[in-house]
Amino acid sequence: AVQRTFSIIKPDATARNITGKINAMIEDAGLRIIAQKRIRMSREQAEGFYAVHKERPFFKDLVSFMISGPVVVQVLEGENAIAKYREVMGATNPEQAAEGTIRARFAESIEANSVHGSDAPETAAQEIPFFFKEEEIVG
Ligand code: CMP
Repeated sequence: AVQRTFSIIKPDATARNITGKINAMIEDAGLRIIAQKRIRMSREQAEGFYAVHKERPFFKDLVSFMISGPVVVQVLEGENAIAKYREVMGATNPEQAAEGTIRARFAESIEANSVHGSDAPETAAQEIPFFFKEEEIVG
C-alpha cells in the first residue's frame, strides 16, 4: 500500500552540503518528497521529538547534536515507504549499514548518522504532524 514516512536530514549532512545527494538517493528508490523544509530545531522540539529515548544514555548528546545546525524535515510517500526508506537509509550504526545505503555512504558515527526515518506506521503518524500541517504536504 502507498504509505507516508517522516524523514530528517541531520546536521552532519547539511554541514557537508549533501542534502541534494541524499534526496537523489531517496528519489532513485522510488520515494516522492511530498513535503520538505529546512529548519533549525529548538531544544524543546528535539526533546519532544526524541522523547521515547529520554532515559537512554545518549539522549543529551543526541538533542545537542540535532540542534547544532540546520536540518531538513521531509515527508516521503510511496509504496511501502516506511520499510523502503529504512532500507535506503541502512542500519543506525554506519559500521553495520549495507553497502549502497545513505548511512554507509555518508554517516560519520552512530550519532551523526545523516538521516532519520520513521520505524513503524504508528511512529510516522506521530512524527509527520510534529513538524507539518496537512496543507504543507502536497502529494
Ligand atoms: P534516529 O533514527 O534518529 O533515532 C535515534 C537516534 O539516536 C539514532 O538515529 C542515532 O542517531 C542516535 N544514537 C546515538 N547513539 C545511539 C545508540 N547508542 N543507539 C541508538 N541510537 C543512537
